[in-house]
Amino acid sequence: MKNILHIISSARGQESYSYRLSTAIVEKLMDTDPNASITKRNLTKEFPPFIDEILIPELYKTPKDYNEESKRLLKYSDVIFNDVKNADIIVIGTPMHNFSISAPLKAWIDLLIRPGITYNFDNTGARVGLLQDKKVYLAIASGGKLPDTMRENDYIESYIKTVFQAYTGITDIRTFRVEGTIENNYSTDDYKKIIQNL
Ligand SMILES: Cc1cc2nc3c(=O)[nH]c(=O)nc-3n(C[C@H](O)[C@H](O)[C@H](O)COP(=O)(O)O)c2cc1C
Repeated sequence: MKNILHIISSARGQESYSYRLSTAIVEKLMDTDPNASITKRNLTKEFPPFIDEILIPELYKTPKDYNEESKRLLKYSDVIFNDVKNADIIVIGTPMHNFSISAPLKAWIDLLIRPGITYNFDNTGARVGLLQDKKVYLAIASGGKLPDTMRENDYIESYIKTVFQAYTGITDIRTFRVEGTIENNYSTDDYKKIIQNL
């Protein structure tokens, strides 16, 4: 039985295209594995806190240095880490906001990534991700449509791939897009078409 983690990060509720696309992905995964369990986290209903001067040193402590205060401060980070650790598949929906991911998703990632927890260093000094063998399906919604010649201006896919590969070891990351949402409406069939190769 697979565990699916569904991360929602658009504040636009059920009107959100990234919500609808990521939900279509989760539904398709459920079709192939009806016994899969789903953990759904709407980051805009419960905003992850931004890292601050108190939390940053705790995030960068290795577990052997935690004290009671660390454990209290790291509670939210621990929830995020355990969600990811327990998941086989992570489905992330994000709007494109100013060419990048949504702010709550960035806050979530800043709380997820921790030395000694999501990555370590081997005896050659190379960084090794500790959450390997998981899949990420990334659902991006953007108001505009980038021509293929400007794909380098889409920082979302490259950022998500880089941060997950470097700091968690997750390399199996696939992207699905709803583009041009300012002009187009998308039907259920359109979402099915976008994810037909899932
Ligand atoms: C603050 C803000 C910034 C945006 N920046 C971009 C952008 O850089 N490029 C783009 O194509 N669309 C941009 N948009 C449009 C959204 O990407 C579009 O509305 C998309 O459908 C949002 O995803 P959602 O439907 O899941 O909320 C922006 C929208 C907002 C509110």
